[in-house]
Amino acid sequence: MQRIESTAALRAQVKAWRQQNKTIAFVPTMGNLHRGHLSLVDRAKALADYVIVSVFVNPLQFDDPTDLSAYPRTIEQDIQKLTSVDCDVVFTPTVNVMYPNGMTNHTNVTVPNMDDKLCGLNRPGHFDGVATVVIKLFNMVQADLAVFGEKDYQQLLLIKKMVHDLNFPIDIIGSPTYRERNGLAMSSRNQHLSDDEYDKAAELHKMLLTVKSQLEQGNLSFSEIEQQAMASLADLKFIPDYVDVRRSGDLEKAEKGDKQLRVLVAARLGSTRLIDNIACNLA
Ligand code: PAJ
Repeated sequence: MQRIESTAALRAQVKAWRQQNKTIAFVPTMGNLHRGHLSLVDRAKALADYVIVSVFVNPLQFDDPTDLSAYPRTIEQDIQKLTSVDCDVVFTPTVNVMYPNGMTNHTNVTVPNMDDKLCGLNRPGHFDGVATVVIKLFNMVQADLAVFGEKDYQQLLLIKKMVHDLNFPIDIIGSPTYRERNGLAMSSRNQHLSDDEYDKAAELHKMLLTVKSQLEQGNLSFSEIEQQAMASLADLKFIPDYVDVRRSGDLEKAEKGDKQLRVLVAARLGSTRLIDNIACNLA
């Protein structure tokens, strides 16, 4: 696997592959890779001739500077893991490569109706930062397709909308959430959980399964189901931000009669904020 740090070198490699009529898949990450990330690389490998993974901790998407400095940077281990799954290129730009003129006056991409709900409410500026860095990375990498995790479902839809709205020539592929054996969605944040919290965190996925079966039974209203789920999390000493039944296509509040649903949850356990979601397609 090659490690590339400059845009010019990346473009040269991509150009060489294009001249051989090869297809390219891209997986953007912030590093500190776990099996969830690697499952995206596997998916990418199955869909294209070559796979490029970026590792860049993007300052623009952190609303809290302490979070940014505490974000784990583990590039040597990341490189080993990417090598083990046959990744072709790891692109590791520095902040200076991404934002040579700083971030203050940088052009910003806002994706309306996606950045102002659910996780967007608690994290001002976060989704603008994500959209902006992802469109920059897309322009640098120029891949045929990019793979994103359904674990960050709102992010996945935001990227799909941005690409659609801006006519960007890339296919966005969503890949299923990779879970720990106890059902907990794999995340870099899980390493902050104590053993007890790790066990308890599995309840988040169980709650989503309960909500899904309640929706399928159809006896309770969406808001009754949401309220019960919030209360059950609070009983377990989570601090829930939201449990919401949404329309899966645009994340608007679901209403009676909507069939394609996504249930999304964000909750704090101790000092760790966890998110998860589940699809629920009613017949
Ligand atoms: P990061 O949190 O590193 O995640 C990179 C990709 O891995 C995202 O598409 C995310 O949804 C996916 N992912 C994380 N955990 C997963 C799991 N358990 N199963 C499946 N996929 C999983 O998301 C970001 O970085 C950044 O916002 C980024 C898009 C790179 C822009 O900076």
